[in-house]
Amino acid sequence: MSTVVLVGAQWGDEGKGKLTDCLAAEADVIVRYQGGNNAGHTVRVEGQEYKLHLVPSGILHPGKVCVIGNGMVIDPSVLRREIEQLAASGRPLAALYISERAHVILPYHRQCDELEEECPGGLRRIGTTRRGIGPAYVDKYAREGLRVVDLLDEGAEERLRCMARRKIEILKRLYGAGGAAAPEQVVADYLAYADFLRPYVRDTSLLVHEAVRAGRHVLFEGAQGTLLDIDHGTYPYVTSSSPAAGGAAVGAGVGPRVIDTVLGVTKAYTTRVGGGPFPTELVDETGEFLRQAGHEFGTTTGRPRRCGWLDAVILRYAARINSLDYLAVTKLDVLCGLPVVRICRAYRYRGREITEFPSRLSVLAECEPVYEELPGWTEDITGARAYEDLPVAARRYLSRLAELAGVPVGAVSVGPGREQIIMLTSFFRR
Ligand code: IMP
Repeated sequence: MSTVVLVGAQWGDEGKGKLTDCLAAEADVIVRYQGGNNAGHTVRVEGQEYKLHLVPSGILHPGKVCVIGNGMVIDPSVLRREIEQLAASGRPLAALYISERAHVILPYHRQCDELEEECPGGLRRIGTTRRGIGPAYVDKYAREGLRVVDLLDEGAEERLRCMARRKIEILKRLYGAGGAAAPEQVVADYLAYADFLRPYVRDTSLLVHEAVRAGRHVLFEGAQGTLLDIDHGTYPYVTSSSPAAGGAAVGAGVGPRVIDTVLGVTKAYTTRVGGGPFPTELVDETGEFLRQAGHEFGTTTGRPRRCGWLDAVILRYAARINSLDYLAVTKLDVLCGLPVVRICRAYRYRGREITEFPSRLSVLAECEPVYEELPGWTEDITGARAYEDLPVAARRYLSRLAELAGVPVGAVSVGPGREQIIMLTSFFRR
C-alpha cells in the first residue's frame, strides 16, 4: 500500500483539485479530511469544467472510491445539489461515501457566519466564505454539534427541534436577528436530507483502514492551505479546521504512521482571499496581470483574489509544518510574458532580515519582502509535457524555488487541463 497527503502550501486556491484529479488516476481511494463547501476545486475534463465544493476531486474517476471524512462539516443542501449535478452530467463517477462522524451545517450556522461578518465596526470580520463553516466547527468543539449519524438516528427529529429552537433564540437575543428559518422548517428539511444521505453513510475510518490493509493506494485531499490552518495559519484570518498534513490523520480517522508521502501544492506565485497581511502582495499592474492571466477570482464566492510574487519564506514554513516531500508547482504558464520574475527569499523587519514565518500578525504586517530577481520567459509553455520542454528561464525559476523552499519539485502544472502536467516523479510507491 501507499498513501499520499496532498496539502496546500499557501493560502488555499493552489490548484489542489487539478492535482487530486491527476493523482486520482493512480489512487484507489480519495479522502477529503477537513473543511466543507468553503472549498472550491475546479477540475476540467474533456473541455468540460466541474466545480466541486464538498465531493472529493477524484469523483470523476469511475471505479474509484471517494470519501467525505469525519473531519469535514457538511451542508446537506449543497451536497445533495452537487451529487445531483454530477449525476446529471452523465459522466461515469466514482463511488461516494460519507463519514457518519462528519458534522452537519445547519441554517443558523450560515446565518451566524453572515451576522459575524457584518458586525458593526467589522471587529470580527475575517472575510469568510459565509458558508457557516466556522459556526459549525464552534458547535462541534462546544459539543453542541450534530453529526451525520445523529441525523440518521431515531431521535433526530426531537434533537433537531431542540437545537433549532435554542439556536434561533440565541441569534435573536445576541444579534437581534430575524429572518431565521422556523424550527419546524429546519426539522422537515433536515429529515428529508437524512433520507437522501442515508445510502452514502458509512464508518469511513474503517473503510480507509481496510483499503490500506488490502494494499490499496489512498490519497488524502486537503482543502484550503497551510496558512489557513487553525493552528499554523495567520490566525485569526484562517479557516476553522486543520488543512495541514497532520489534519489528514485526525480528519480521516487513521493513525499518523499510515501516511507515506506529503505533497505540497503551490502556485508559481501567491494569492490570498479575504483579510490579513500578505507581504508579497502586488497592488500594481503586475498584480492585475496575475489576476487576469491566472483567472484569480474565487470558485466559491467569485471574489477577486489578492495576487503577489512567490514567497519562499511561506514555502519553507509549509515544508516544516507538513513534512513536505515534494512540491507541485501550478500555474507556471501564468508567468509567461513577464520580463522578470521575483521570489521572496526573506523578510526585512525593522532593519533586520528574518527567514522564518512570524506568528505575530503585527510583525508580518510590517515585513518587507527581500526579493531575488530572475529572468522571465515569453515562450508559450502550455504544451510542455516534459521538463526539457520548458524554456531555460522557467527551469531556472523552478530550481531556485526548490532550493529556497528546501523541497524538490515533483510536478509542474502548465494549464488547467488534466493532460497539462509534467510529472517528475511517482508519488505513490509501487
Ligand atoms: P471560512 O473557511 O469560510 O470560515 O473562511 C475563513 C478564511 O479562509 C477566509 O479568509 C476565506 O477567504 C478563507 N478560505 C476558506 N476556504 C478557502 C478556500 O478554499 N480557498 C481560499 N481561501 C479560503
